[in-house]
Amino acid sequence: KKASPLFGKKVMVTAGPTYEAIDPVRFIGNHSSGKMGFALADELAKLGADVTLIAGPTAQKAAQNLKRIDVVSAQEMFEACNSIFAETDITVMCAAVADYRPKQVATQKIKKQDSDLVLELEKTTDILASLGRAKKTNQILVGFALETNDEENYAKGKLEKKNLDLVVLNSLNDKGAGFKSDTNKITIFNKALERTVFEMKSKSDVAKDICAAILKIAK
Ligand code: C5P
Repeated sequence: KKASPLFGKKVMVTAGPTYEAIDPVRFIGNHSSGKMGFALADELAKLGADVTLIAGPTAQKAAQNLKRIDVVSAQEMFEACNSIFAETDITVMCAAVADYRPKQVATQKIKKQDSDLVLELEKTTDILASLGRAKKTNQILVGFALETNDEENYAKGKLEKKNLDLVVLNSLNDKGAGFKSDTNKITIFNKALERTVFEMKSKSDVAKDICAAILKIAK
């Protein structure tokens, strides 16, 4: 059916930030609103896919026609992704996952002291890289890249290092692009490192462009 080109396809989308606990009341987070990932999940569902949206803490509301799994930390997101990845045909990793988390999580609220406080951080699992290693030839894996400098080279490096089929670059250098805004400006690289540059658009129209790029490589 032309109206449902992704009918029967199992799709996983991650969205939003992760929160890494410091103590029971504090965390390390980031400015991701989840808007881009939710718009993508919505568009993929409209194309007929069976969508599971794995969302970090966000105020976004998901459409009715998709499954939503809410997580808080990078570790929880990793476990949720792992639990369904083997059965997924298409995976789009839009979440802004924390790269580091506090090594110790205090069980009680940390009291203010006279001295400065040093927090030791440890690396989280790179979920996308881990899925890239597990990926089978019939699975499509799409990653995002947000850079402030030398962005095209980093995006291409990510595509190869993480074994991706597409990488979507959004630049913080463009006004109206990235985190909280309702618009975004992207460049998509495919495996052949061919580049497609798009105009600034609403995140729902950006989602349509990303879906079109996915449809081009989906069988
Ligand atoms: O390497 P970098 O973190 O910039 O790559 C960004 C891409 O990797 C995004 O698609 C993001 O969702 C994913 N990612 C991830 N797990 C991490 C860090 C990033 O899945 N721990």
